Amino acid sequence: MEIRNVCVLGAGLMGSGIAQVCAQAGYQVTLRDIEQRFIDSGINTIKKNLGRDVEKGKKSPADMAAVLGLIKPTLDLKEAAGNADCVVEVVVEVMDIKKQVYQELESIVPAHCLFFTNTSGLSITEMAAITKRPARFIGTHFFNPVPVMRLLEIIRGYETSDETLAIASEWGKSIGKEVIVVKEAPAFAVNRILCTMMNEAFFTLDEGIASAEDIDKGMVLGCNHPMGPLALADLVGNDTLLHVIEGMHRELGDKYRPAPILQKLVRAGRFGRKTGKGIYDYTTK
Ligand code: CAA
Repeated sequence: MEIRNVCVLGAGLMGSGIAQVCAQAGYQVTLRDIEQRFIDSGINTIKKNLGRDVEKGKKSPADMAAVLGLIKPTLDLKEAAGNADCVVEVVVEVMDIKKQVYQELESIVPAHCLFFTNTSGLSITEMAAITKRPARFIGTHFFNPVPVMRLLEIIRGYETSDETLAIASEWGKSIGKEVIVVKEAPAFAVNRILCTMMNEAFFTLDEGIASAEDIDKGMVLGCNHPMGPLALADLVGNDTLLHVIEGMHRELGDKYRPAPILQKLVRAGRFGRKTGKGIYDYTTK
């Protein structure tokens, strides 16, 4: 089967980026969210990204218009998914909410439609099991910022077929990503390592070992990371990070206990860049 129509569910940081890279590769994209303000914010992010490329001379204004023309925003799930060859689900990292979305989707999508979940660490197998298409269900894990990061981590669920894996891998390459295929495990491969490091940075801060600025400076200058782990947590979203770590804690044990200061930040609504404040304050920049 060939993928032409891609439905992206969720217009947040990741969903808007996925919609953009799919449209850039020529796919017809529907971008759906549950409130108009989320859609507006996602489309604005895409326009900002494309506008930057136009300013740098990497795209012409006509290219930008063509990419935007391929993305159809909507609040209506039927309109978004009714004609989809694949649905990329990027809704909040809560298993029950994701399951509810898949149940709704079953009666809407065409029989051949594949389900791709961009979960950061939840079980692909558990989500797939409540659908009628576990063989056509797979994890496609993108990295933030999606237009920049080259990796697509693909995760096979227990029932995922070889055909689904092959189609998802080809699709990943067609949108300009390098693909790695990993086995299902809490947080998969990359987040298991990366989120553990970010959590450890919060413990290091909590224990007063160094300031946030020095922790980040240390990892940038001492390890050549492009940004420090606390700044990265603000970019990824502290709420998303906490969801991933709580999942690892639940399934893998105490070694993955979330740092108290990370929990406090999330309780305070300091999710990072997206809310204006996290470890750092972005409201004055
Ligand atoms: N969206 C789109 N493009 C962006 C962007 C954004 N939010 N931020 C930066 N860019 C682009 C810039 O336009 C620039 O493009 P060109 O090369 O075409 O000029 C390029 O990225 C580099 O940007 P800058 O020069 O402004 O800044 P930088 O060199 O400091 O790079 C960065 C910024 C790409 C974010 C870099 O700091 C970086 O790679 N950080 C680490 C990101 C990372 O680890 N991501 C994974 C997070 S984990 C995750 O996402 C998974 C999960 O489930 C939690």
